[in-house]
Amino acid sequence: MIPILRTVSDMRALARSWRAAGEVVGVVPTMGALHDGHLSLARRARAECDRVVTTIFVNPKQFNNPDDLKKYPRTEAADAALLATVPVDAIFAPEPDEVYPEGYGTTVSVSGVSEPLEGRMRPGHFDGVATVVTKLFGMVLADRGYFGQKDWQQLQVVQKLVRDLNLAVDIVGCETIRDADGLAMSSRNVRLTPAGRAKAPVLYAAISAAAADIRAGHADRMAIREAAEAMRAAGFERVEYIELRDAATLMPSDDPTRPRRMLAAAWLDGVRLIDNIPV
Ligand code: PAJ
Repeated sequence: MIPILRTVSDMRALARSWRAAGEVVGVVPTMGALHDGHLSLARRARAECDRVVTTIFVNPKQFNNPDDLKKYPRTEAADAALLATVPVDAIFAPEPDEVYPEGYGTTVSVSGVSEPLEGRMRPGHFDGVATVVTKLFGMVLADRGYFGQKDWQQLQVVQKLVRDLNLAVDIVGCETIRDADGLAMSSRNVRLTPAGRAKAPVLYAAISAAAADIRAGHADRMAIREAAEAMRAAGFERVEYIELRDAATLMPSDDPTRPRRMLAAAWLDGVRLIDNIPV
């Protein structure tokens, strides 16, 4: 059994003992409901670090929608069993009061890269992410932090946060893991109906086709419009955004000589799906 730690002081004591022995500590922050995408981060951390901690914390500060927070799947026993297959050295799963005790009053806010796209659609979301990630790095005394490219903007926010605050953590961005039909794995996918699940791969297919068209020299705007139309035709209720952006700053970019990323968010079956790919 993998030890599950609930308090910051227990987590710190364990991490201190590792650090004292000169071991490199990797952290994989998650909100649980683990799938192969999360496990791929844990496996990479296992291969690259002496000690690996997976954190499981459904962070209330990053949910702008209380209903989404309430409905967020919580499957700790199954998560622990999956993490035993990696295996990780410890699971850190604190309660909200342990992370945000009474009187808690500090917010970490990253400007620029956190503002467009997800930041605009989900006010306060990246403040919540930046705050909890900063805290988790400190609680786990992490040398390395593993994050998925699935949440590309989040990865850029975390990278900027670490640079700006001089945190001694190396950030490792890991490939998006997909189901065989292309749908990016997500804890929210379980909320799709069977009919919705069948349509969901159109998100990845549409942005992939648009990216291929743009690489082939088609106009950016036209390719993006066609992708949005394909998604609506497939039954997506709402396409929130499909944007071609500078991969690092997330600002609009029409410069094909720089690394660019196509990012999209759309609603299907009342579930909000996001995805992104390099262009
Ligand atoms: P969560 O959505 O649980 O994701 C935890 C980590 O797994 C993130 O780095 C995310 O990008 C990565 N991930 C999710 N699906 C993936 C996939 N299909 N392929 C590869 N990686 C994937 O992201 C969060 O939690 C939270 O915002 C958190 C960083 C834990 C802060 O609360």
